[in-house]
Amino acid sequence: MLQEKANQVYEQAKAAIMAANDTKTLYAAKVQFLGKQGQLSSLMKEMVQLPKEERPEFGKLVNEKKKSLESQYELRENELKRQELETQIANEKLDMSLPGPQFNRGQKHPITHVIEEITDILSRLGYSVQSGPLIEKDWFNFEALNIPPDHPARDEQDTFYIDHNHVLRTHTSPVQIHTMQKEKPPFRAIAPGPVFRCDSDVSHSPNFHQIEALLIDKTVSMADLKGTIAYFVREFFGSEIKTRFRPSFFPFTEPSAEVDCSCPICKGKGCRMCKGSGWIEIGGSGLVNPKVLEQVNIDPSEWQGFAFGFGVERMAIIKYGISDIRLFSDNDIRFLSQF
Ligand code: PHE
Repeated sequence: MLQEKANQVYEQAKAAIMAANDTKTLYAAKVQFLGKQGQLSSLMKEMVQLPKEERPEFGKLVNEKKKSLESQYELRENELKRQELETQIANEKLDMSLPGPQFNRGQKHPITHVIEEITDILSRLGYSVQSGPLIEKDWFNFEALNIPPDHPARDEQDTFYIDHNHVLRTHTSPVQIHTMQKEKPPFRAIAPGPVFRCDSDVSHSPNFHQIEALLIDKTVSMADLKGTIAYFVREFFGSEIKTRFRPSFFPFTEPSAEVDCSCPICKGKGCRMCKGSGWIEIGGSGLVNPKVLEQVNIDPSEWQGFAFGFGVERMAIIKYGISDIRLFSDNDIRFLSQF
């Protein structure tokens, strides 16, 4: 009877081991049959029911069955562990299409970008890049440019004074003077860089950028100036943008003209950007005043020249349709990363 029971338990245990599809179920079967409180142990306890002489044989039988079950268990365990490892590895497969960790990449400021593009266009016309100090001597910023001490441009409203003899340069035109002192004519030079004025609202910033251009040669006319600017504007904005020259006054050029571009937003029809006029002012220009040439010992009877100075932010505003000049210095990554 008990032998039969032992056989039954053995068959059940064997079936449970084979049927286990994962190590968890397999461990449960081990506990149920081979554990200390398991069914084989209780068989051993039931052995007392048997006559004394049958006990050793029964004990042997149960032990053999236990050994057999243990090795079956071990085989199954290895098999299941291998399977589980394989599925785990398969699931953990490296997914090459997953995006990597995000990091922010810096990029050029839109103003740097525009300056580089302008420089590129003008250097194709033979202009070389010049620079000058940002803290400028009064003489370079004003006097040499034929701006006398009582000129309204010197008004303290517009100029940041360092001391009575030094200012933060209010335009890039003093680089004209530095260049003329350095170079022997004929030459062509451009000077991009920051300038400073005591002024701040939607379209004025106390720190903005200009690009100056200066050409000195034997015969230079307004036609050369207009042709150069028209070419430059067309290259920078595209052929649909027109240029317009308005008579104006600058102490360092004679005659002088202000340069307007047809508004790129409304194509000249008139809109908020151009205040309804269809035109946006980009800067000043003119033929170099002989008085300026005299200041740097260039003979005005032999040499002539033209100059222009454009606002870089203005040009960027026109090119990209930006509504507030302060965006350039706000350091907002959402704005800056669009260029
Ligand atoms: N420097 C002038 C300004 O800042 C612009 C200008 C440059 C005009 C060169 C004429 C020639 O307004």
